Amino acid sequence: MMRATIFSYLCLALTATAAAEEGSVWDGVYSEEQTVAGAKLFAEQCLSCHSNKSGQVGGHGPSPSIIGEDFVFRWVDSSVADFYDVIRQTMPQAAPNSLDAQQYADITAYVLKLNNYPAGESPLRIEDYVALQSVWIEAAQ
Ligand code: HEC
Repeated sequence: MMRATIFSYLCLALTATAAAEEGSVWDGVYSEEQTVAGAKLFAEQCLSCHSNKSGQVGGHGPSPSIIGEDFVFRWVDSSVADFYDVIRQTMPQAAPNSLDAQQYADITAYVLKLNNYPAGESPLRIEDYVALQSVWIEAAQ
């Protein structure tokens, strides 16, 4: 009996800890500084497809836009790690996984910036991958 009670307290404590570690892209999960590298990489590796007719970030032909409503529609309730994985494992389309892990993280940061999510104090780092599995992409507040 006593044992069962202690066990259930432990479970409660664990649940509470896990909940406290959940985050959102509104918390500032990348640094402004890393978006400079991210923007450069995006221009070199991604913009040719993910751009509109005027050459600005958007989409054309088979390439979806990865900003604004299209981004929210596709990615809301996914984690930042999910988004990172799709970019790394499938993009650039002709050469998936051809950049290094941190470069993909910098590109992820830049796409978050393009979608008007705020920068924070610390960069988005590949070392934080596990934590990023509980950082959720949410629609505008
Ligand atoms: C040669 C053209 C091309 C290049 C270059 C390219 N993409 Fe894509 N991208 C596509 C196409 C086509 C799709 C849709 C089909 C698919 O998901 O494979 C896509 C899909 C995506 C998606 C999923 C979008 C969604 O909302 O479903 C993301 C995110 C993405 N690209 C990001 C990038 C990033 C970041 C880069 C640069 C590292 C990049 N792409 C480079 C053509 C390209």
